[in-house]
Amino acid sequence: MLVLGIETSCDETAASVVAAKEGVPCGEIRANVVHAQLAEHSRFGGVVPELAARAHLERIDRIVQKAIDDAGIGFDDLDAVAATAGPGLIGGVAIGVMTAKAIAFARRRRFIAVNHLEAHALTVRLLENVSFPYLLLLLSGGHSQLLSVEGVGRYRRLGTTIDDAAGETFDKTAKLLGLGFPGGPAVERAARDGDPRRFALPRPMWRKPGCDFSFSGLKTAVRQAAASLASGDSQAVRDLCAAFQHCVGDVLIDRCSNGLEMFRNGRTLAGSPALVVAGGVAANDYLRRRLGSFAESRNLRFIAPPPALCTDNGAMVAWAGIERLRLGLDDKLDFAPRPRWPLDPVAAPRVGRAGIGAGVKV
Ligand code: KG4
Ligand code: ZN
Repeated sequence: MLVLGIETSCDETAASVVAAKEGVPCGEIRANVVHAQLAEHSRFGGVVPELAARAHLERIDRIVQKAIDDAGIGFDDLDAVAATAGPGLIGGVAIGVMTAKAIAFARRRRFIAVNHLEAHALTVRLLENVSFPYLLLLLSGGHSQLLSVEGVGRYRRLGTTIDDAAGETFDKTAKLLGLGFPGGPAVERAARDGDPRRFALPRPMWRKPGCDFSFSGLKTAVRQAAASLASGDSQAVRDLCAAFQHCVGDVLIDRCSNGLEMFRNGRTLAGSPALVVAGGVAANDYLRRRLGSFAESRNLRFIAPPPALCTDNGAMVAWAGIERLRLGLDDKLDFAPRPRWPLDPVAAPRVGRAGIGAGVKV
């Protein structure tokens, strides 16, 4: 089975070809082309939805063609075309979906509308033989959630953010400290040579029941600490980044600890369960190490996809398409893109800022 995956929901224009064989659980990435829109957004210090949509439109044809060429195939060799159909910035999502539908229609291939969060959630199964259920910590630019992944299309949300998402907090911290865009990798780089003990920052939700997240208090504390710094004190910036990252690490571990209890919820699981991290923030090496040691201390299998498959890419979309096709699921060409598309529709909506508003990154 060969599937083309298209991703355009935020600021990466991406296409990939993934192959899967019957009886083999994982897939094989035949091509993976990602264009990060750095030049377009860096002077604004964040993603500008309209600019993102135009940039997707300009490049999508060439990127899809390159993925097909890199895979050494033609469009007629594909079994299906999958595209992120939400949640995300709707202008970009519509461009990816229309491109996928056009190819599927012209070449009479199947079309799969993929939930971007599901693509992050299942990425790990493209690479490793991981069975359901597993505990998923999903950390992206617009979402921070702990989920019990029960199966393809079956997600139980255990906790979510009541205000900002983890990635958003990294991005705002970077902007505040003048570290540039994208913020996450910039904060991580600065933190490497910083002393986390120099600044005492809050750890929102730490030791509170449940496994919801909150990051806005931490962001405010970083802003206040930044305001007190002498200009040009680059060591203080590095120390502040290290303290910030350290607090994020503490909070994530505390939330995962409670999330694990909720995940187990009295049921008997065969073997020790897996803790999986996904989404752009999961590319952070410091957080991966902290979460890895936590998992080890609890006797959990810890799995983090390689950093390039944590941030947005087409391979995860193609793979989610394959997982759905394997269950006989595909979509009609009148499927409408969805700016909001929760993984667990039954979970009570949180009245926070994350995910609300037309221009929110996902
Ligand atoms: O999953 P993703 O690529 O796009 C969304 O679906 O949002 O996640 C992007 C987010 C951004 O907020 C970015 O700053 C963050 O992931 N990120 C990181 C790192 N790399 C990307 N955050 C912390 N450390 C990193 N190394
Ligand atoms: Zn994403």
